[in-house]
Amino acid sequence: MKTSRPDRRGFIIYSFFFICFLCALASINEVRFDSLLKFGRCALSNINAPNSTSTANVLLAPNSSSDDEIRILFGILTLPDQYHRRHFLRMIYGTQTPVGASVDVKFVFCNLTKEDQKVLVALEIMRYDDIIILNCKENMNKGKTYTYFSSLPEMFNDTKGPNRPYHYVMKTDDDAYFRLQSLVDSLKPLPRQDLYYGYVIPCPSMDPFVHYMSGMGYLISWDIVEWIRESDIPKNHLEGPEDKIFGDWIREGHRAKNRYNAKWSMYNFPEPPTRCTHELWPDTIAVHLLKNQEKWITTLKYFNVTDNLKPSKLYHIP
Ligand SMILES: *[C@@H]1O[C@H](CO)[C@@H](O)[C@H](O)[C@H]1NC(C)=O
Ligand SMILES: *[C@@H]1O[C@H](CO)[C@@H](O)[C@H](O)[C@H]1NC(C)=O
Ligand SMILES: *[C@@H]1O[C@H](CO)[C@@H](O)[C@H](O)[C@H]1NC(C)=O
Ligand SMILES: *[C@@H]1O[C@H](CO)[C@@H](O)[C@H](O)[C@H]1NC(C)=O
Ligand SMILES: *[C@@H]1O[C@H](CO)[C@@H](O)[C@H](O)[C@H]1NC(C)=O
Repeated sequence: MKTSRPDRRGFIIYSFFFICFLCALASINEVRFDSLLKFGRCALSNINAPNSTSTANVLLAPNSSSDDEIRILFGILTLPDQYHRRHFLRMIYGTQTPVGASVDVKFVFCNLTKEDQKVLVALEIMRYDDIIILNCKENMNKGKTYTYFSSLPEMFNDTKGPNRPYHYVMKTDDDAYFRLQSLVDSLKPLPRQDLYYGYVIPCPSMDPFVHYMSGMGYLISWDIVEWIRESDIPKNHLEGPEDKIFGDWIREGHRAKNRYNAKWSMYNFPEPPTRCTHELWPDTIAVHLLKNQEKWITTLKYFNVTDNLKPSKLYHIP
């Protein structure tokens, strides 16, 4: 009786390693050992109850459609007190559902300075969760653009997500109107690396490889965002007109071998007429300098944005 004990223990250990061996074999070649795989999963699930649905997804569906989807962080630089503007822009962007991309619209500003902001902005975040507060003081031309881009890698450093949280990051103003589907369609054929996209300054220029992109809105790929965080070039050159300085960093750092000039799909509102604009036309990605309600209404009407209003007994809009 006494001698049979080690034998039994030996048998149990042997069986355990045999099961492990089968599992290993099965996972090495899941097609040929398909039935073994099932057995292996079964055996494993008895040991430590793995998350079998996610395992199955990895094995059976390697082609995840989210690979094709362009992920864009759409940052609108604004000021904490611009409550009404934010609510308005939430309508403007919340009623657009671009196909082939996921676009995260965020409002970006520096540290709060007033007591009422601490309540009102916190409520907005609780309701909409679309605000980024940077560690800076509100300023003109003293590095808000740098703080914006250079803060993002750490803010979106979730290791569980994709290795690039976004393919592209946009920086735009609260007086610009973007048509997100047109933006997404224009991005589809473009590289997702080393890209600098926007409206080339000066207005008559069509060459994106000289000068820089207008502050009406420009977009860069995530690798350039990371470069801005890591490189000394932007750090040592913060003061001055933000968008022009951005162009200087790119030139000095020899970045953005891929550039895209979205002119004349991006332009200023037609009034006043300048060399930076033309009439509203269908092939539009962005209209800038919408400085008052009348200009917004003209623009929104032109693009038929309320055409899809669903009919209802509850209202009548002639
Ligand atoms: C299985 O994975 C899903 C999604 O990743 C997760 O929500 C769930 O909690 C996991 N279940 C177990 C038992 O780990
Ligand atoms: C992944 O699925 C998409 C859409 O179903 C398809 O167009 C694409 O060719 C697939 N890619 C691979 C690598 O199978
Ligand atoms: C912004 O606010 C944070 C937290 O309140 C503070 O630690 C930081 O010093 C402030 N930054 C500036 C530039 O005022
Ligand atoms: C992400 O950033 C936070 C805040 O700085 C930090 O505590 C955390 O360790 C970072 N995580 C990773 C994975 O880098
Ligand atoms: C808006 O709708 C009108 C009338 O249906 C149409 O003629 C016009 O082309 C539309 N405008 C745009 C920019 O799609």
